[in-house]
Amino acid sequence: MGAFPATRMRRLRQSDWTRRLVRERHVTPDDLVWSVVVTDSGKDRDPVGAMPGVERFSVKELVKEAKIARDLGIPAIAMFPHIDPAKKDEHGTEALNPDGLVPTAIKAIKDAVPDIGIICDVALDPFTSHGHDGVLKDGVILNDETVERLVEQALVQARAGCDVIAPSDMMDGRIGAVRDALEGDGHTDTLILSYAAKYASGFYGPYREAIGSAGVLTGDKKTYQMDPGNISEALREVELDLDEGADMVMVKPGLPYLDIVKSVSDTFAVPVLAFQVSGEYAMIEAAAANGWIDGERVMLETLLAFRRAGASGIVTYFAPRAARLLSN
Ligand code: PBG
Repeated sequence: MGAFPATRMRRLRQSDWTRRLVRERHVTPDDLVWSVVVTDSGKDRDPVGAMPGVERFSVKELVKEAKIARDLGIPAIAMFPHIDPAKKDEHGTEALNPDGLVPTAIKAIKDAVPDIGIICDVALDPFTSHGHDGVLKDGVILNDETVERLVEQALVQARAGCDVIAPSDMMDGRIGAVRDALEGDGHTDTLILSYAAKYASGFYGPYREAIGSAGVLTGDKKTYQMDPGNISEALREVELDLDEGADMVMVKPGLPYLDIVKSVSDTFAVPVLAFQVSGEYAMIEAAAANGWIDGERVMLETLLAFRRAGASGIVTYFAPRAARLLSN
């Protein structure tokens, strides 16, 4: 009744110890997956222009980096290939090569750093001459023909020792088909992380440069990736993928789609990962490089935002830098 407020919210904010004591959400290295690009270009480290601080690694270099990540407490890496353009063709045949770049990298990492998880992208875009995720015929991405190839690609990865198969292609029915094939081939413990809610987004631009599909992509991916205006469609996608045998689901991009992360994590009792994609990374780096924001502070703040929205984990190009800051 007095002139002063009885409830002073600022009491709990007055010192570091009170703030730490009542903090509701946290981010730790355990929550991070490091997205990495592996290359067969012959260069050990090859910077990606649109992603300052990100380099494509040779297999040898990636093994070293995987050790560092493991020692920082990062549970897993998500690997994306940048292959020699001469190996690309219309059907993405190289994706099915058991001696290709990805299976070679999986074996090398599993040999040297067996205790870090390996997540592999299942999609044809790094391997196709047209940059699409599937088989293209007369301007149309063929669903079922693509799924047959994705199943083969997933088997090649699982046989090489990949822990988590992560289809990012958005074809219908691919999770069920991959799950059947894995069971049939004896890979009963291989996990599936489904890119269930993946939107047709402008935020993937720098990634396409990173894997070398930017110059070659014809048209856009709107006939298979989701429309940015949709919410309930994401829940339907997640439900289908869980029914088909996914162990974890991904929402992608991340920060612009935090509402989707929140809806999915509120609706389903399943681990939800969010992908802080290349364009999100590039925006933070660009503003930081200009001195317009404090890059490290903003990076950690975004990671916490994902946790607040309900993400179990965050796939991010920042993982080692974040893990270093978080363990200090
Ligand atoms: C496609 C794929 C994309 C990314 C990973 N796998 C996007 C796309 O081109 O549709 C994007 C990752 C990023 O932007 O960081 N299979």
